[in-house]
Amino acid sequence: MYSQIAGTGAHLPEKIVTNGDLERMMDTTDAWIRDRTGIERRHIAADHETTVDLAEPAARRAIEAAGVRPEDIDCIVFATSTPDYVFPNCGVLLQQRLGCRPGGPAFSVEAACSGFLYALAVADKFVRTSDSSCALVVGAETFSRITDWSDRSTAILFADGAGAVVLRPAERPGILSTHLHADGSYKDMLYCPGGVSRDTPAFASEERRKAITMTGNEVFKVAVTSLGKVVDEALAASRLDRSAIDWLVPHQANIRIIQATARKLDLPMERVIVTVQDHGNTSAASVPLALDAGVRDGRIKRGDLLLLEAFGGGVTWGAALVRY
Ligand code: UT7
Repeated sequence: MYSQIAGTGAHLPEKIVTNGDLERMMDTTDAWIRDRTGIERRHIAADHETTVDLAEPAARRAIEAAGVRPEDIDCIVFATSTPDYVFPNCGVLLQQRLGCRPGGPAFSVEAACSGFLYALAVADKFVRTSDSSCALVVGAETFSRITDWSDRSTAILFADGAGAVVLRPAERPGILSTHLHADGSYKDMLYCPGGVSRDTPAFASEERRKAITMTGNEVFKVAVTSLGKVVDEALAASRLDRSAIDWLVPHQANIRIIQATARKLDLPMERVIVTVQDHGNTSAASVPLALDAGVRDGRIKRGDLLLLEAFGGGVTWGAALVRY
């Protein structure tokens, strides 16, 4: 038994913030942001919009594209680092919103920007072991809520959005393999303080900031190395040559990181789905947003071999080889 991506969906908040808007807010330039990151604009949630608000339309689109109904969904795995509540988790909230049949598992996964790959790997196992016949996998974030808008080194990068896929059992291999990794020794390189358990006077000085804190150039180096290794690992697991890949669907953190991974795979940029210019870094939403963009504009076709990859705080990283 295999699992297969039966449908994809995405949703972005209406408000767009351009590099020009940021030039007026902080000491930065459109030229620097484009040159160092590839980002031109990003979507930012309205004050009343939450992560689950963004996830709901993305999930509905994925469900419709898969040709199923909300009541067919029997498992929800929701990747986010910016949940609506401490609990219930976003998966449970989404189950109720969509009108899914109650009873199946619904839970969230937190692995920062690698979250969607972690969620996909978990849902794949549910479907392959017959625990689920229709799993919804979501990556959704409101990173603007944990962004320090006075910090030009991070405020230009992060943004909001949601993407989703529906996984169904299949006779032919769909998700060929998933590869997840973490290395906590890099925990201080990219993190967001403000955790519930540390919200006490004892941690007051370090937790006060409650915003993304990153040593960007260090993250850059570890990301390029880790992603280079994990794409090789994914190909080796299926004994496939890099020439077999039809599309690289990477995490959209920085065009230079994406180009480095494409070079490593000897893949021309025409075979890479790039949305970073329009979306910025939407963390766990970035891979499913890019996947949906490639599917809906007709570039990604049924039967294509896709390599999904991501790297995020923790640090965490991963890849998935997928026959779409
Ligand atoms: O998704 C999770 C994983 N996250 C990532 O993968 C992010 C990885 N890191 C990056 O994408 C890049 O490191 C950044 C885009 C964050 C930064 O680019 P960089 O080329 O590594 O720049 P840098 O941090 O080494 O800074 C270079 C210069 C510094 O000035 P000095 O010290 O050379 O005078 C910064 O102060 O650029 C300056 N700088 C800026 N200048 C204009 C930093 N941010 C800005 C800015 N506008 N927004």
